[in-house]
Amino acid sequence: MKPPSPLRIGLIGAGNIWNAHKVAFQQFPESVRLAAVMDINPAAAQKAADEFPGAKVYADPATMLRDAEIDAVLILTVHAEHAALAHAAIVSGRHVLVEKPMACSLAEARSMADAADKAGVRLMIGQCQRYDRSYRGAKRLIESGEIGRVQAVRFDSMQGLFSNGILPAGHWLADGSKAGGGIVISVCVHRLDLVRFCLGEVRRVSAVTRTLDPGYINGAEDFAAALFEFESGALGEMFGTYSGFRMPYSEGLMIFGQDGAIHASPNNGEYQAPAVYASKQHPGVKDENNWLAQFRGFQPVPPDTDGLPSDNSFVNQMLHFADCCHTGAEPLSSGRDNLGTMRLIEGIYQSAKTGTWIDLKNL
Ligand SMILES: NC(=O)c1ccc[n+]([C@@H]2O[C@H](COP(=O)([O-])OP(=O)(O)OC[C@H]3O[C@@H](n4cnc5c(N)ncnc54)[C@H](O)[C@@H]3O)[C@@H](O)[C@H]2O)c1
Repeated sequence: MKPPSPLRIGLIGAGNIWNAHKVAFQQFPESVRLAAVMDINPAAAQKAADEFPGAKVYADPATMLRDAEIDAVLILTVHAEHAALAHAAIVSGRHVLVEKPMACSLAEARSMADAADKAGVRLMIGQCQRYDRSYRGAKRLIESGEIGRVQAVRFDSMQGLFSNGILPAGHWLADGSKAGGGIVISVCVHRLDLVRFCLGEVRRVSAVTRTLDPGYINGAEDFAAALFEFESGALGEMFGTYSGFRMPYSEGLMIFGQDGAIHASPNNGEYQAPAVYASKQHPGVKDENNWLAQFRGFQPVPPDTDGLPSDNSFVNQMLHFADCCHTGAEPLSSGRDNLGTMRLIEGIYQSAKTGTWIDLKNL
């Protein structure tokens, strides 16, 4: 049944990232409305509800799913709770938007996607980089053939989580039993999903992970390196760390095409729209006597605004979710699609454990 407009949403988990999600509710009240809030920390739930008149606070998810007048549920909790909360919401007949990573394992993720199909509800994963105008610009450029066949990609996710004091020691992100792993599942997941989105599926992966800072426990790695071979034949390389001392938050990305290259740079370590540049080898630039001339070609990639009304990727993501709930369309970052990202993460962890290449079609 088509839900009413605005879509009435029940929030589970009103922590840090709710601050990014709530902007859509503030700016587009005709599309999405916060109708219910639940958090195991009652003060956090109350604080979120206080900003949205009419939003009711619930003490537990079962009561919220039973009593609240909601069409969809937004899950922003620790990763270990994603699967169980999503299942409960799906079984209650609600559409679900769950933050990345979809779950702590591929098996959990598969059962979520199957449950959503069975219930006939939309299940979407918060892979916000897919809804960023700059990255969409890069994707459009690749698809237009401007940089030729993509031959390789290189990306990194680097931050000093504890070493720079971004989060306090003992935070759940450093606990594999709550996060499902370390830097790979919690942060590299953004880039892994983005490269799948732009370049297609990975065929096989080889990886090494390390836990070097003893503050990371229960299998949470703070260093990871991986090599990939894509179905297209392109090769890839990933590096991730939580322990980059004095490292600004950084997510680099370089895409090497046969005729040109794209790079996306973080903006001074801030969470902002990334700067994406492309270069194409024009005949006029090829000057054998002046090798520097070849480096003059990087130009800003025009952002793609098609279907992306805001320059805020979280806002675009939420509006896309509301649209899909209304039209019944498959979300661009659906749970079914995200099985590819979860498969890649599982492949990285299996390879790190076994010391062998992992063929993803076997997972
Ligand atoms: N898209 C992004 O760029 C981005 C950035 C940061 C975090 N995230 C994701 O957002 C999610 C939440 O991260 P965060 O940084 O907001 O964490 P957080 O610790 O700041 O907030 C989590 C909230 O969930 C609540 N919670 C935990 N278990 C719960 C349960 N069983 N039921 C109800 N509430 C529960 C906590 O009390 C807390 O208020 C994670 O999936 C994380 O990976 C995404």
